Amino acid sequence: MRTYLVTGGAGFIGSNYIHYMFKKYNNEIRIINVDALTYAGNLENLKEVENKENYTFVKADICDKEAIEKIFAENEIDRVVHFAAESHVDRSIKNPEVFVQTNVLGTLVMLNAAKNAWMLEDGSFKEDKKFLHVSTDEVYGSLEEDDTFFYETTPIDPHSPYSASKASSDMLVKSYIDTYKFPANITNCSNNYGPYQFPEKLIPLIINNALQGKKLPVYGTGTNVRDWLYVDDHAKAIDMVQENGRLGERYNIGGHNEKQNIEIIHIILDTLQEMLPEGDERKKLVSKDLITYVEDRKGHDKRYAIAPDKIKEEIGWYPETMFKDGIKLTIKWYFENEDWLKNVTSGDYQKYYQDMYQ
Ligand code: NAD
Ligand code: DAU
Repeated sequence: MRTYLVTGGAGFIGSNYIHYMFKKYNNEIRIINVDALTYAGNLENLKEVENKENYTFVKADICDKEAIEKIFAENEIDRVVHFAAESHVDRSIKNPEVFVQTNVLGTLVMLNAAKNAWMLEDGSFKEDKKFLHVSTDEVYGSLEEDDTFFYETTPIDPHSPYSASKASSDMLVKSYIDTYKFPANITNCSNNYGPYQFPEKLIPLIINNALQGKKLPVYGTGTNVRDWLYVDDHAKAIDMVQENGRLGERYNIGGHNEKQNIEIIHIILDTLQEMLPEGDERKKLVSKDLITYVEDRKGHDKRYAIAPDKIKEEIGWYPETMFKDGIKLTIKWYFENEDWLKNVTSGDYQKYYQDMYQ
């Protein structure tokens, strides 16, 4: 049975990936999820799988070398899927240190632990061991409003402390591939949306605020463009790259679904109106009047757009979920998981929200 070590599996994409993998492989695989449970990590995301015999949770920081080495010493790990990171751009602008700590140094700890566990005396690696580093399209910087795209060959040009830390971690992975022939892949994905996303990110924040009749903060002019991908499609791509990709290669993953932020907000408001039943009190609260233009994000990247040509040609992956369907699935999930939303938006979230949006 293949054993996966997933880092950051209690976060948004990590938990969706774990659900995807158990749905696909059920009891054919074992998953060890290591997560420090920062504000973004939530074990509620994994309630459905927590009692499975082939699932283990380890609470540890990826910067804790001993804890990570212990996992490798006690288990024959076959796959590492490395999600754990500080992931929110706005937080990185206010407090970059933790981003370098987790995203750069934590990745180095993961690389070293895997290399030491997998490398044989002659410098080659045990057979069928693979490390996948989950990264972002933000490492490529920003595109203008034209028809250019990010390719795997696009030069790295990060602008925020978050994207700089992710670009640094990508470079570390690349250096292990180039130096040691370390069996790894890097994936650079566009903006994800779907269940379990923490409401500091645009889509869940707008859903949450609109349902409560709170202002909908739009940075700058609202014309910045992101390329949105349903999170299940990302999980599928990660699995396909790890199993069928060429080792040592980088693959871009994207939704071919570019939208201006203001367009996303209008779609959410219209979809909420459509989905809320007649007589539901919240129907009166959801309104375009809530849209509020606020100060722009510092260094705000104008446009991201991925050309997922390489992953399609080599591996056969393409985005399957249309945005109109994905956004309905997402809103339905937030409707059905009000308690989840209440739990994550109590306490520290309130303080973050006050500081961020005053
Ligand atoms: P998230 O913030 O929702 O989750 C991050 C998880 O990592 C949390 O469970 C957190 O507890 C854990 N974590 C943080 N620091 C840790 C540490 N030091 N040790 C152990 N665990 C730690 O993030 P996400 O949106 O799910 O993103 C996951 C990965 O995918 C990140 O590497 C991110 O850069 C990348 N990515 C995200 C997107 C997106 O749109 N969200 C797009 C492309 C790539
Ligand atoms: O592109 C991939 C990246 O997507 C990931 O690497 C990051 O981890 C993830 O957080 C996301 O980064 P963004 O900065 O693009 O996502 P965010 O949801 O924070 O913002 C999306 C856009 O919406 C961006 O242009 C800023 C804008 N925005 C965001 C918030 C939170 C607003 O206008 N108002 C808001 O309140």
